[in-house]
Amino acid sequence: MLFKQQALLRQKLFVLGSLAIGSVLYLVARVGTLDRLQPICPIESRLPPSEPEQIPLRTLQFKRGLLHELRKGNATKEQIRLHNLVQQLPRAIIIGVRKGGTRALLEMLNLHPAVVKASQEIHFFDNDQNYARGIDWYRGKMPFSFPHQITIEKSPAYFITEEVPERIFKMNSSIKLLIIVREPTTRAVSDYTQVLEGKERKNKTYHKFEKLAIDNNTCEVNTKYKAVRTSIYTKHLERWLKYFPVEQFHIVDGDRLIMDPLPELQLVERFLNLPSRISQYNLYFNATRGFYCLRFNIVFNKCLAGSKGRIHPEVDPSVVTKLQRFFHPFNQKFYQITGRTFNWP
Ligand code: A3P
Repeated sequence: MLFKQQALLRQKLFVLGSLAIGSVLYLVARVGTLDRLQPICPIESRLPPSEPEQIPLRTLQFKRGLLHELRKGNATKEQIRLHNLVQQLPRAIIIGVRKGGTRALLEMLNLHPAVVKASQEIHFFDNDQNYARGIDWYRGKMPFSFPHQITIEKSPAYFITEEVPERIFKMNSSIKLLIIVREPTTRAVSDYTQVLEGKERKNKTYHKFEKLAIDNNTCEVNTKYKAVRTSIYTKHLERWLKYFPVEQFHIVDGDRLIMDPLPELQLVERFLNLPSRISQYNLYFNATRGFYCLRFNIVFNKCLAGSKGRIHPEVDPSVVTKLQRFFHPFNQKFYQITGRTFNWP
């Protein structure tokens, strides 16, 4: 009898024990899942910016995974609803400058867990046909994101297109505007190189840079040449300043972004009121490519496409000097307005 009671007790203890262990295991698994579903770094609650640290990889992987599925169109409406994903209008736009390093800047900012990029240049504000499609069309071009994340798009043509400042102002008068600039003559040559490559691809011939940049009749700088005009940064900025106060712009040094990107990215994080999350871990120099590349996590890293970082043709030094002298007064004005000085000649 006593033996029977002991066996029964042992049996009960075993069942209770199993239930307890099961519950603990369930809780551990559940907490893990919930942790992954936590919104990533709600921006407001994390200010002021903390010390630089690595992006939490698990969070980042989850974000990338889900957003990647969405981009491929594989995510269901249920997943979108469940994770409270939305297509948000950009809170910041990289408005230019063409060949300043706009792609590198966008891709590098996208390393931040609170940033989601619009992959393509949308050309909403500079293209009349797109603009006529309305703001919902624009929003529909935006990637899915968590509500606390900010969406950023880049369309460098915005900087030089007359109608754009007013149109952006009408959408959001407090939007943050990023402009990435390079030494103006280098930028003009980079611009030329891109067009030249396009012509060569179509087996077409093209003028030499010198012929385009210098007016044959006057021997002065040809201000009708678009690559020259685009590099007169202050002229374009002054148009923008009719709509937005200077505090709403942040100037990124495109030459420094090439050589040493992290400090420039940290300045942008601060400007966007984001906690400092992009670290040296996320950026590594690739000697073959000759540029910094991006490391998202242990398995996923990438360099920019080969069309970024072309070899420039050699330009007659006297033409370079002429251009540098031409840009000089405009650069001074640009420094004065923006409060950011560069070591441009
Ligand atoms: P070059 O091709 O003249 O070297 P954009 O994206 O606005 O078209 O700018 C292109 C420029 O971005 C390139 O100009 C390149 O120098 C610069 N750039 C900056 N960081 C880069 C990076 N990490 N990888 C490749 N190109 C980068």
